[in-house]
Amino acid sequence: MDKKVLIGPFSQVVPMTKLPLKGALPDEQLMLIEDGGILMVNNKIAEVGSFVSLKPKADIIEFIEGSAVCLPGFIDAHTHICFAGSRAADYALRNAGKTYLEIANAGGGIWDTVTQTRKASEKILIDRVRDHSIHHLKNGSTTLEVKSGYGLSVDEELKMLRAIKAANQQSKVDLIATCLAAHMKPKDWSGSSEAYLDLISESLFPILKSERLANRIDAFIEQSAFSPKMIASYFKKAKAMGFDITVHADQFSTGGSQVAVDFGAISADHLEASTEKEIALLSQSNVIATALPGASIGLGCDFTPARKLLDAGAALCIASDHNPGSAPMGDLLVQASILGTFEKLTNTEVLAGITCRAAKALNLNDRGSLEKGMLADFVTFPTNDYREITYHQGQLKPHGVWKNGTKVF
Ligand code: NIG
Ligand code: FE
Repeated sequence: MDKKVLIGPFSQVVPMTKLPLKGALPDEQLMLIEDGGILMVNNKIAEVGSFVSLKPKADIIEFIEGSAVCLPGFIDAHTHICFAGSRAADYALRNAGKTYLEIANAGGGIWDTVTQTRKASEKILIDRVRDHSIHHLKNGSTTLEVKSGYGLSVDEELKMLRAIKAANQQSKVDLIATCLAAHMKPKDWSGSSEAYLDLISESLFPILKSERLANRIDAFIEQSAFSPKMIASYFKKAKAMGFDITVHADQFSTGGSQVAVDFGAISADHLEASTEKEIALLSQSNVIATALPGASIGLGCDFTPARKLLDAGAALCIASDHNPGSAPMGDLLVQASILGTFEKLTNTEVLAGITCRAAKALNLNDRGSLEKGMLADFVTFPTNDYREITYHQGQLKPHGVWKNGTKVF
């Protein structure tokens, strides 16, 4: 018979249950279990409740010494951690006054990372992704989305996505791959943008299915990348093949949110340039609005209007966008906490953005909250008050991380 393992007592368990997917979340809605415990069987949660009441049901008890607040493992729903090289030169140029788009037009930006990533072997990329994911896992993220998009040819995108798949098999973290072959028109492609997108949908999409490399298609909709019109037929083909859609939307100019809503995307990410019109569109849809404060901090630009999105009724996810260009920091908790201070988000809104609501941004129903049937993915912090976590703005680090019921840190 499978053994029931009880972990605890925790000063507080913050289960992130019974919260609506959309809209503002006052802290009064946050349920806390004082002196709580988690009962697990294999990799799943069997019950969450008071430690004392769960004790008689346990075959094994793993005691937690001292103060500990327990939360669901964080879900970072937007990263680009499969890359080679550094863009420290771009960062210096930006801080000296050049814009992201000026640097991109001068041959830096995404294309610089494409050049570096194409030179790297699949083995090097596997190692890089695995190293980044260990770092994120130590900081509490038990699920990470990882995009391709620095290959920009059928073969190079395949190399990236195979590296992500291999890194996933070697990692304790769950890596959810997304194909971002539509990151920009490759500079060495002499045909039209439409012809490039046709090549990708015709030659790459079927291999994504046959090798099970990715179930999600992303596109960067921006003046410097692809227009809504160009992406429409690309997304149509992706949808017809059963892929989930996600969009880099409204980062510098609007247009992406409308496409996300029109195509029933799972999420629209960035949204720094979204106006009242896009906020209304997103909040009246089922598209998850993903804020990427790491990109605002990395570029020194406005934050996504997270408060307005929530007040309008949108579902807000918060992700790190960890990438070598716009978001080199790669620390989800630091960034989510800072977004909270600038956008006036409650603790519940910040924590939901990196747990239960983030799960929905990846279309995952088996994680993001601590309750019966969910994966036993959780993280503990050395405090007896959950509010200390955002208060320390990411500097209070987890002292325990469990993935699929196993303590990994
Ligand atoms: O999400 N905006 C486009 N893509 C990435 C940046 C990629 C890069 O600069 O390398 C982003 O910010
Ligand atoms: Fe991104």
